[in-house]
Amino acid sequence: MLFSWVDRWYGEGEACETALPETERTSAQTDCRADHGQLFPYRIGEKLPTMHSEPPSNSAPFRVLNFCHTMASANKSNGYEDVASVFITGRGRNSSGVGASVVAGWSQTLPGGGTVLDLGCGTGVPISQVLIEHGLKVYGVDASPTIVAAFRARFPGVPVECAAVEDSDFFARTFDGVVAWGLFFLLDAEVQRRLIKKIAGVLQSGGRLLFTAPNESGSFPPDVMTGRPQFSLGYEEYRKALEAEGVSLVGTHRDEGENHYYFAQKM
Ligand SMILES: C[S@@+](CC[C@H](N)C(=O)[O-])C[C@H]1O[C@@H](n2cnc3c(N)ncnc32)[C@H](O)[C@@H]1O
Repeated sequence: MLFSWVDRWYGEGEACETALPETERTSAQTDCRADHGQLFPYRIGEKLPTMHSEPPSNSAPFRVLNFCHTMASANKSNGYEDVASVFITGRGRNSSGVGASVVAGWSQTLPGGGTVLDLGCGTGVPISQVLIEHGLKVYGVDASPTIVAAFRARFPGVPVECAAVEDSDFFARTFDGVVAWGLFFLLDAEVQRRLIKKIAGVLQSGGRLLFTAPNESGSFPPDVMTGRPQFSLGYEEYRKALEAEGVSLVGTHRDEGENHYYFAQKM
């Protein structure tokens, strides 16, 4: 059964109801709503069938992915602005969503009251929230204006910038920790490499990095939310890229939703 991670992240049956205003809904979305609980039955990084292979007998999820992929996007959120309302009402409402417990454990390795940069922070739920609850000072960056507005509404006192991570100056300061949950594999390989360099530049000596990306290298089937391509440098290339910037890979982990975590520390 492949649905557990998706159900926990997005919530059953919510996605297409809120994807667009009523007037812009398509028959694909109407079909999709009938598939209650089976909208995106694949997790990030999973080897699901390509668009060209024979779809399962219930092919609504494939049509939705195609639909989302063709929507124009004027920002650098890699499709997330287009699906913001779905994302906000799904993962954005689940304080114990996938990743919360792993990030809670990681937060124990940071200095009490320390600073953490949350890249691709989304609504802040659950990742920033867990960090804040553990007494850390969070700074968020996300490229989707609508999702950043949801972050601000939920965490009014927390600094958050609406910008692409490739453009942001990361508040022109250093941090005890940097977290990037669900971001890296949305970016081109070259952007990922530049991001590693930028992260190393803002991590204090001894500072820690946590990011998620598949262990294997290469292209992956489209992101379940947006239908956009996903790409992982893979374990060995991430290790080398980090090492070249003075950051050591110190561990990995796979969570209950099969998301793969990289833990690293600046030397
Ligand atoms: C899979 S979601 C994860 C959000 C959050 N980390 C969480 O755990 O809920 C990916 C997030 O990255 C943001 N994003 C995508 N590309 C980005 C970019 N180039 N710069 C900044 N944020 C980006 C999206 O807007 C979205 O909020």
